Amino acid sequence: MANILCIGAGYVGGPTMSVIAKNCPQHRVVVVDINADRIAAWQSDQLPIYEPGLDEVVRCARGKNLFFSTEIDRNIAEADIIFVSVNTPTKTFGQGAGRAADLQFWEKTARQILENSTSPKIVVEKSTLPVRTAQAMERILNSNDKGLHFDVVSNPEFLAEGTAIRDMENPDRVLIGGRETPSGQKAIQAIVDIYAQWVPRERIVTTNLWSSELSKLVANAFLAQRISSINAIANLCEKTEADIAEVAHAIGMDSRIGPRFLRASVGFGGSCFKKDILNLVYLCEHYSLYEVAAYWEQVIKMNEYQEARFVSKMVTAMFNTIAGKRIALFGIAFKANTSDTRESPALAVCRSLLEEQAKVVITDPYAMDNARADLGAAAEQVIFEPDPYVAAKDAHAIAILTEWPRFAELDYQAIHESMVKPAFVFDGRNILDHKELHTIGFNVYAIGKPPRTNFVN
Ligand code: UDX
Ligand code: UDX
Repeated sequence: MANILCIGAGYVGGPTMSVIAKNCPQHRVVVVDINADRIAAWQSDQLPIYEPGLDEVVRCARGKNLFFSTEIDRNIAEADIIFVSVNTPTKTFGQGAGRAADLQFWEKTARQILENSTSPKIVVEKSTLPVRTAQAMERILNSNDKGLHFDVVSNPEFLAEGTAIRDMENPDRVLIGGRETPSGQKAIQAIVDIYAQWVPRERIVTTNLWSSELSKLVANAFLAQRISSINAIANLCEKTEADIAEVAHAIGMDSRIGPRFLRASVGFGGSCFKKDILNLVYLCEHYSLYEVAAYWEQVIKMNEYQEARFVSKMVTAMFNTIAGKRIALFGIAFKANTSDTRESPALAVCRSLLEEQAKVVITDPYAMDNARADLGAAAEQVIFEPDPYVAAKDAHAIAILTEWPRFAELDYQAIHESMVKPAFVFDGRNILDHKELHTIGFNVYAIGKPPRTNFVN
């Protein structure tokens, strides 16, 4: 039996450790966090995050070999393996502000591990970090005069919110990077043995530390790049009467390109893509690779343009003024099946609409509390309405900003009847039946498709 500890009970730490505990009943898994409210929620029936399948997994292991606690020091002392999953946001101050990763929580955690350790341990980097962070971690941990040796292993997470449990149960691959020394190899093997309990061995990839750290940033950069690429082409479609869905289908059938992650949208969000690309850009600049940095930065610029373009399309279509007009935002989460709103394009759209003095109504099945917190003072200008029918009543326009399947199943005939005419739909996720909406009487604007309007001239 091993004592496994995870520091950081967030979107990553909580689901990851729950799946490990469920699949490794022989190990004891403890998840700790400085946030006592979060830990209390993990201990309750109201988990702090919405994630399909999470409740079942937690219920199956909690109290048996899965524990949530605020006692960080004692659990560090008892642990054999420590996963570190604390947040590493983009730095907002000093050198590298707006780009580099803020590693203060990370370093604080390393020092806390050192302070409370009386036995050697394996420390696993789960948080996304700039390449070569493990070296700093090793230097801090092994600077001790207790005669203790720490092995640092990189094991980045690739789970996507909304499918986190499925991704963990059945991953495309698990990546584990470590030192090429005998003790480093032993540490890699210890982590391989955990995942090998349920992941086929050929899907567990082992590399050196730096390849593993860098691969995480690169995976997210490539995924985000695909979205910015398809969104760039969507804009060209809107000018040329090509249809982005048809183009995506046609190019995705080339097995070298593949069909996934080609959904044009109002933009990508989430806690990782922007932060990780900024981090990559900062690293490239640090190594004087300015052209490489500019190349990747364009992926973010394209995304910001996509959000801004969506709003400007709304304003233009609605006769160049939306001041005082009620606009219903369907979805505020950054994607479907999550309560997470971090970097959600819907929030960016909401803020811009407020600047235009529109009356914004937000409806979302799970993400409204997070949205309220993110909007801060601006939340007072927004109406939060759980029922989409009520949100749309007396509105001039609906904007679909999250691809919740339930938004495609509403009675748009009834919705149209309750709205101010001419009524508009701006489908930022291309999930609705545009032809049908047009027949009902809506003026429909989608991403990468010609608009369908009912204006005669
Ligand atoms: C985090 C990182 O942000 C991301 O870079 C990485 O890829 C995975 O881990 P996430 O789990 O989504 O992502 O972050 P968040 O939900 O903010 O959780 C981090 C938790 O760490 C928070 O609950 C926070 O309270 C906790 N924390 C932070 C500590 O316990 N100790 C600290 O010193 C700092
Ligand atoms: C991402 C990575 O997928 C995951 O491997 C990593 O561990 C963390 O970052 P996540 O941010 O949870 O996961 O969601 P993801 O499914 O990647 O979607 C990110 C954003 O891109 C969402 O806003 C989503 O709506 C958008 N998206 C995705 C599109 O606009 N079009 C697509 O085709 C796919």
